[in-house]
Amino acid sequence: MAEDFIVTPWEVTGDIDYDLLAERFGTTAIDDKLLTRLSKYGEPHMMLRRGIFYSHRDLNIILDEYEKGNKFILYTGRGPSGHTHLGHIMPWIFNKWIQDTFGADMLFQFTDDEKFLFKQGATLADTRSMAYENALDMIALGFDTEKTKIILDTENIKTLYPIALKVAKKINLSTAKAVFGFDNTTNIGSIFFTSIQAAPAFLASEIAGRNIPCLIPCGIDQDPHFRACRDVAPGLGYMKPGQIYCKMFPGLSGADKMSSSDPMATIYTTDGPKEVKKKVGRAFTGGCVSVEEQRQKGGNPEVCAVFKYCYYLFEEDDRKLNEISSKCKNGEILCGECKIALTEKINTFLEIHQGKREKAKDVIGGMSFEGFKW
Ligand code: TRP
Repeated sequence: MAEDFIVTPWEVTGDIDYDLLAERFGTTAIDDKLLTRLSKYGEPHMMLRRGIFYSHRDLNIILDEYEKGNKFILYTGRGPSGHTHLGHIMPWIFNKWIQDTFGADMLFQFTDDEKFLFKQGATLADTRSMAYENALDMIALGFDTEKTKIILDTENIKTLYPIALKVAKKINLSTAKAVFGFDNTTNIGSIFFTSIQAAPAFLASEIAGRNIPCLIPCGIDQDPHFRACRDVAPGLGYMKPGQIYCKMFPGLSGADKMSSSDPMATIYTTDGPKEVKKKVGRAFTGGCVSVEEQRQKGGNPEVCAVFKYCYYLFEEDDRKLNEISSKCKNGEILCGECKIALTEKINTFLEIHQGKREKAKDVIGGMSFEGFKW
């Protein structure tokens, strides 16, 4: 059933109907007109062309301002609940493209406070060390080290706090319950938290003493935070931040979202070639049981996790992607072959990524906002 899915910042389950979700949240589709507008700045990123980044709020306004010479700041983040997997880096790769295309400064927030509050059993030491690990992955993707600053909530709280307070004063409990589904058992830190996630959106404006547009590229599951953030912005004299939202990166099991709760269906950036081979080998393809049947009937790329991985990340060439799809459908290539090809692509990517991740250790210190020490 199409209605049978849940997407909140803390829970994603079921078969997600992304159009319906955008409608429920009230976000706007990225249509051909907007894509054409974006192509003025360069060939639209594959994630735009393929409808992975598919929905937005006020992107046109952000671009209007940009064209007037009022450059936007980029803002995104990560709740450091565990090691980084491919699903996390997908929107980061897109952020890097926006940074390069528009020459944007960027704030990257690590919400160690959030994960401490929301995750059973997590200590502040855990979430802080995970933030460090996750930040290495972010840096490894090649963000401009001069233009990108890392916010670690428990370290930079002094700067965030006055903004968060202003935000918090404008959000009442009944709104928080309606937007986030809190109830009487929710700890009170969690209730306050959204104001901390809102703060970086206004930080550049606060520092400059004038409105600096802010664009937030991230998963659509974060929209509840930014709805609340946008609602309070005018009352505080800030410009509403714009958002550009992507779909969730699928799991290897065929689930709609890659999740650490299913480690065998999740590829971590620290996985070695053998682990990748094993995990991809077990991936859901929806293929037929016998080779004969598959040759005859063909496969179904729409449900195949291996194909989805090519679609979302590992085959940038649209022509090659279409070729994989049609060869699969007419039984020319079999699931085993696709799995071998994907394993190779992932392992090549990870080998390079892991090298850059090591090098990131040398620069991470210089990227911390206000120079906190890790
Ligand atoms: N809440 C996000 C998460 O759990 C982390 C986050 C903080 C974030 N600020 C953000 C995500 C801005 C996207 C954009 O991962």
